[in-house]
Parts: sequence; structure tokens; C-alpha cells
Amino acid sequence: MEMKTRRKLTDSVQMQFAAYFAALTVVLLVLLNTYPLRSSRDVVFSEKESALVSRAAVVSSSLSLLESLTPDNTQQVMGLLDVNDLARILVTNETGLVLYDTAAEDENAAGTQTDVAEILRALGGETVFYSKFDMTAFSSCAAMPVRSEGRTMGAVYLAEYDAEQATLIVGIQRRLGTITLVVGGVALVLIFFSVRIMTRRITRLADGVRIVQSGDYSFRLEPKGHDELTELGNELNNLTERLQTTEAQRRQFVSDASHELKTPLASIRLLSDSIVQSADMDAATMREFVTDIGTEAERLQRTTEKLLNLSRRDDGAEGELADVDLRAAVEGTLRLLRPLAEESRVAIACELAEGCLVRATEDDIYHIVFNLVENAIKYNLACGSVSVRVYAEGGQCVLSVEDTGIGIPEADRPNIFGRFYRVDKARSREHGGSGLGLSIVHDAVTLYGGTVEVSGVEPHGSRFVVRFPQVGGADSTPESEP
Ligand SMILES: Nc1ncnc2c1ncn2[C@@H]1O[C@H](COP(=O)(O)OP(=O)(O)OP(=O)(O)O)[C@@H](O)[C@H]1O
Ligand SMILES: [Mg+2]
Repeated sequence: MEMKTRRKLTDSVQMQFAAYFAALTVVLLVLLNTYPLRSSRDVVFSEKESALVSRAAVVSSSLSLLESLTPDNTQQVMGLLDVNDLARILVTNETGLVLYDTAAEDENAAGTQTDVAEILRALGGETVFYSKFDMTAFSSCAAMPVRSEGRTMGAVYLAEYDAEQATLIVGIQRRLGTITLVVGGVALVLIFFSVRIMTRRITRLADGVRIVQSGDYSFRLEPKGHDELTELGNELNNLTERLQTTEAQRRQFVSDASHELKTPLASIRLLSDSIVQSADMDAATMREFVTDIGTEAERLQRTTEKLLNLSRRDDGAEGELADVDLRAAVEGTLRLLRPLAEESRVAIACELAEGCLVRATEDDIYHIVFNLVENAIKYNLACGSVSVRVYAEGGQCVLSVEDTGIGIPEADRPNIFGRFYRVDKARSREHGGSGLGLSIVHDAVTLYGGTVEVSGVEPHGSRFVVRFPQVGGADSTPESEP
């Protein structure tokens, strides 16, 4: 069924192209056949007119020299003129009586009344010319009055029959006809093949789209050439590649997320089974087990919250954008994290410049600062330190979080912003980490047009530097917190 629709579509595209080109060819060939013939015929017509009218004028002025027109003196004048090549010469007096007619069958034609319309018009004072072409000859005639001292004495009518020019024109027409047939035939063959090639390429593209649409993201077209269809093929390949990457990421994410949720759920199940199965469990052990169940549930809750946070951000910024002061955001976050720092015996030092405003939601800025500082405390060593700095530089607000902790191996640095990525799974899990914190940081920072970079600190430790476009874009210098 689908196949049928496709055939119809390509067929019609093919037909459209073919019809367009064929129509164009027909128009060109019709022009080629008509225009040169018409114009050469017109040239012959006007040439005939000027020649025949001027010959009629010569006859007319010769006759006008006579005192009066009679059959005899008209014949004498005609004998003197070079008019033997004409098909017919007719001379009448002013009343239309024939004086001389080369087309008359007998000598006594003179004296009859003429019925040649051109003569009648010429007697009325007009100069008449008329010519027609009938594929075998040009038949032309001219008539004009014979005038002397303002008086019309009679009229002259000359007719000419020219087959030579006609043969010439018919010959040209025949040759043009042959050329038309050859050119038309060649054009049709060319149109047929080029349209076929083009539609075949379009069909291949459409097939490619259908294959990709059916879910085979490994499919790639092999476009040849350098035209727009090749470009379209390359674009389709790029699109498929992106789809393939996104699909792979999606699968990976679903598998990671399920794995992540599976572990605490399995622990909860195990703990609850133990409680149910041991009938004589003492209260202290039971409390311990239930506390563990609570811890695992809390881990689940944290992970799902982070997953929700990430998926919400995939749809763009959530909440109201405001000019958030980085200094205030860091101070607020540090108040929450001080207990954790004290517990881990990690000292926190700050250098926070004023006026570092970032266009973002307060929540996102809080998540960024919190995740970075929490990591710096979590992955630190006992009696280590964390240094948080906020300053403006080159139209950007910079947040730098530096620690003297365990550091991140260089090979892991490109990956730590990936979802669920942990350098040391055991150590991270110990802290209840899910490997999503830095993903959130990365996504949030990117959403507001910022960048985040990680580097090592000598002799050990890490430094995370986040840069945002600054509201207002003015520089300011860091100042020490008392
Ligand atoms: N300051 C740091 N020093 C050393 N290692 C770090 C630091 N920050 C992050 N890491 C490493 O990068 C990994 C990813 O960090 P991330 O914040 O994304 O996840 P997490 O801290 O394990 O879990 P979560 O933040 O979701 O609670 C961590 O597991 C840790 O191995
Ligand atoms: Mg973290």
C-alpha cells in the first residue's frame, strides 16, 4: 500500500519535470519553425511592394505623357517599356474601359468594361498593392491611376507571379522541419534520461528517510556529486547521526537510571525480608535495619529529585529569571554547608566580589553553587580546605571553587559532567552520591550561556571555574571577606 503511494508520488514528480521540459522544448521548436519563415516572408512582401509599385509608377508616368489614352498609343508605349516579365498588365481609360490587357484571350478585348477591383480603386485615386504566398509562389499585384495635370486619365494594373522566391522559402522551411525533428527527438531522449536519473536520486533519498524513520539509525546514504540533492543527502546523514547519538544516550540513561534505582531498592527489599523472616529479632537490631531502610529510601529520594531536576531543565529554564547576585547566592549556600564542612574538618575560605549579577533563576544558581561546594567538601581530605571566589572579568561573572582534596585524574575529567559518572564509585556512594550533581551544574550553566571547566591543583585537589555572562558586563575586583 505504502509502496504504491510512493510510486505514484515519484511518477508524478517525474511527469511534472518531463512535462515542463517538453513544453519548453515545444515552445522553442515552434518559435524556430514560425519566426524565421514569417519574417523572411514579410521581407519578400515588402520588397515586392516597393518593386511593383515603382514599376507601376513608371508605366503610369509614361502613359501620362500622352495627350489621351487609346488602345494603339498605349500598346506603343508598352512596347517601349521593359515589362515583359510581368504576369499581367492591364490599362484602362478613366471610365474603366480596357485599353490594353496582356491576359486577354483575343485582340478584341480592348473596349470591354473591366471588373478588376484594384483598377476600380485606382480610378478612385488610390494606389493599391496586394500580395499573397501560397507555398508555391508569391502572387502580387499593384494598381495606380494615370494622372496628367490633376486629371485622372485612366489606371494601370500590374500582376506578378514569383515562384523562385517561394521555392527558396519552402526549402528553408523543409530544412527547419528536419532540424526540428532531430532536435525534438534528441531533447526528448535527454529529458527522459535526466528526469529518470533525478527522480531515481529523489527516490533514494525518500527511501533513506523511510529507513531512518523505521528506526534504523545506522543507515547512511552515499551521495555522489556536488549539487543540492547531494547536500540534502549529507544533511540527512548528519540528522541520522544526531538521532543515533541521542538514541544511544537515551538508552544509556534509561539503563543507568534503572540500575541506580535498583541498588537501593534491592537493599530495602533485603532488609525488610530479614525483618519479616526472623521472628525473634531484638529491638536494637530491628531499629538498625529500619534505619538502614530509611537511609536507602533517602538516597532514592535524592536520586529521583536530581533526575527530575535534570529532565525539567531539558525543557528549558524553569521559574522566573532574575538578576541573581552570585555573592549572596554563595553566602546563602555556605550557611547550609558549614555543618557538613565542620563534620568533615574542612575549612572554607571566601573571596566574594560585589555586583556579580547573573540573569538566571535563583534555584539554578543555588544548585550550581551547592553541588560544586558540596563536592569540594565531600571529596576532600581531613583538615583540608575549600576556597570559593566570585569576581568579574572581561564582562563575565566568575565562580571558582578550589579544594585540596583527592583530585580528579586527568583521564576522568572529560567525563565527570556526564550523567551518573563517578570516579570512585565506592567513595562516592559512601557519601550518598548519585553522580548527577555535576550534570546538573553543566546543564544549568549551559542554559544561561555560561561555561564550566575543571582543572587540577598542585600538589593535590581540583578547581572548578564557572563563567557566566555578566548583567551590565562591567568589571569588578575581588574583595576579601572579613
Ligand atoms: N571536588 C572534587 N574532587 C574530587 N572528585 C570530584 C570532585 N567533584 C566531583 N568529583 C568526582 O566526580 C564525580 C561526579 O560528581 P557529581 O557531583 O556529579 O556526583 P556525586 O557527587 O557522586 O553525586 P551527587 O552530586 O549526585 O550527590 C564524583 O563521583 C567524584 O568522583
Ligand atoms: Mg556531587
